[in-house]
Amino acid sequence: MKLRRIAGALGAEIEAVDLAARLSPDAVAEIRRAFLEHQVIFFRDQPLAPAQFMAFARHMGRPIEYPFVKGIEGFAEVIEVRKLEHERQNFGGIWHSDTAYLAEPPMGSMLLAREVPPYGGDTEFASQYAAYEALSEGMRRLLDGLKAVNASSKADATRTREELTRQKEIVAEYVAEHPVVRTHPETGRKALYVNVGHTVRFSGMSEEESAPLLAFLFRHQVRPEFTCRFQWRAGSLAFWDNRCTQHNPVNDYHGHRRVMHRITLAGDKPR
Ligand code: SIN
Repeated sequence: MKLRRIAGALGAEIEAVDLAARLSPDAVAEIRRAFLEHQVIFFRDQPLAPAQFMAFARHMGRPIEYPFVKGIEGFAEVIEVRKLEHERQNFGGIWHSDTAYLAEPPMGSMLLAREVPPYGGDTEFASQYAAYEALSEGMRRLLDGLKAVNASSKADATRTREELTRQKEIVAEYVAEHPVVRTHPETGRKALYVNVGHTVRFSGMSEEESAPLLAFLFRHQVRPEFTCRFQWRAGSLAFWDNRCTQHNPVNDYHGHRRVMHRITLAGDKPR
């Protein structure tokens, strides 16, 4: 296995590994270590069948169903993330950490590219360790004691999900309160844990009172120096850590198809 970092704050491509083959315990441990260290890892040329994709996901965590979207035929935990030629909205088309409105948001997510547009459709990732660590001591002290309310109904996130939610008959609203700064349960590092897609207000404060500081954090946490950007090819696979990163799929390929398969891995209550 060879590893190549793609940016200063986060992101590494892992080369010379075939995820369809039986992975040794050492290989699994090496991939998990790289995931924890680099926060998002990428693989090329992995045209895995859904069962192979699930097998790899099971090595890294426990696949779970996505709350709003049905899985593909035969695989409840694999959802199709697609934008077709005539569509304008893309799935999750805003900076976010996945489903932060759940009481136990997912540890990580995996995305496998099936069909990619001739240009564009990259995904950006931002390190929330780097974002937290770049704040002043005074701001860190203030944020360390705060919680925030995250809601699935927050307008932008809901709109971008509409294309796919059509498949589900019942769409519940989820709301969860989480620390604004969470401590990663495996690395022990602190990360900012608010996001513009889901975070509505600080706990115990109104939306209006929360807005100025949240607006600052939403801008700050995706500064270019905290990010990396991944250009997909069919068969590329990304695996990101939702506990310390955010991501944003760039919607710059209108008129072209982009089809991905996604698996979400169970997480725990942020602390
Ligand atoms: C998502 O899971 O939020 C979508 C990411 C992407 O399509 O690049």
